[in-house]
Amino acid sequence: MPVGTLVLEDVTKSFITPEKRTITAVDKANLRIEQGQFVTLLGPSGCGKTTTLRMIAGFEFPTSGRILLDGRDIAAMPPNKREMGMVFQSYALFPHLNVFDNIAYGLQLQNKSGAEIKRIVGEMTTLVNLSGLERRRPAELSGGQQQRVALARAIAIHPKVLLFDEPLSNLDAKLRVGLRTEIRRLQKQLGISSVYVTHDQSEAMSLSDLIVVMNAGRIEQIGKPNEIYLRPANKFVADFIGRANFISVKVLSVKAGPNGASAEIDLFGQRMLVPAQAGMQANHTATLVIRPESIFISPNAADLPAPAFTAQVRSTTYYGVNVEYDLAANNAELNVVDNDSSRILLEGSNVFWSFAADRAYVLNE
Ligand SMILES: Nc1ncnc2c1ncn2[C@@H]1O[C@H](COP(=O)(O)OP(=O)(O)O)[C@@H](O)[C@H]1O
Ligand SMILES: [Mg+2]
Repeated sequence: MPVGTLVLEDVTKSFITPEKRTITAVDKANLRIEQGQFVTLLGPSGCGKTTTLRMIAGFEFPTSGRILLDGRDIAAMPPNKREMGMVFQSYALFPHLNVFDNIAYGLQLQNKSGAEIKRIVGEMTTLVNLSGLERRRPAELSGGQQQRVALARAIAIHPKVLLFDEPLSNLDAKLRVGLRTEIRRLQKQLGISSVYVTHDQSEAMSLSDLIVVMNAGRIEQIGKPNEIYLRPANKFVADFIGRANFISVKVLSVKAGPNGASAEIDLFGQRMLVPAQAGMQANHTATLVIRPESIFISPNAADLPAPAFTAQVRSTTYYGVNVEYDLAANNAELNVVDNDSSRILLEGSNVFWSFAADRAYVLNE
């Protein structure tokens, strides 16, 4: 029997406001998290991530739908019986307890013996690099250290599922990257199914086996990071994950292939074959999605893969590691990230551009 398989079936949560308005915070969410998987709920503020997590934890009850843990409906199960560990943005440590007692808290609730608690807390402090700090109180620790205490407390109880709600949002940028690497390493090492809530797309991309993109209470797409990035289900996902250029194009014909569909499109008078979303129809308008780093530019058309198109540089921004350009290209505005920062194309200059067709995507209108 797998441990830590979590299934959401048509889970909906509505709130009634004091003004008697109904807010559907989560709208028919369907999701399956396999044992040991790291799944991220990603979306803008207010899209229903925390509400989804709180229903999994048992702090909120679905208005309708079911949540199954290892095949069992957990509706009637109180939070402390769900065997889930939770890590919050605010750390939520007990301020009057030291590191040892904070980590030991859940183990004491499980009625473990003193010797057993000592052994596990020792193991945990080593695991999260807090050895030697056992006697300190939260106020005597940095934000990053406090969050590691919270992480140790969550995993000490050997949870079936780990839940994280924006755990890194209160930390500065450098620490955030360090701690997220640590969370991923620990999660892999321990093999605990995890649901991680964030609005930060780079966090989601770097941590997840699976990303669930949410918008206004609904799940827009579920996929691996590279699927979400290269094959977004719609404009919202394409725009929310990284940056995207959208160009309206006409579909000339559609081909089905073993790796999905391709569409032959008319782009500014040139015929091109580009991977396409399922259900595309010839003679319809569609949206071509091109990532800024998939566009090549040069003063000379001969430097570029054919076909090349003309454009004018509207603005140039030098970042050292790369250069960003805004181009005016026919009726489209294009954002370009050029990794070649050894040369800078000047504002106002006429350039050519083309793009990696296999990294572009055609979306249904
Ligand atoms: N207890 C509540 N009562 C009323 N509305 C709520 C409550 N909790 C959340 N909401 C609303 O539900 C929506 C989703 O909230 P939330 O799940 O916190 O979003 P996120 O975590 O993605 O920012 C928001 O519109 C929020 O205002
Ligand atoms: Mg939230």
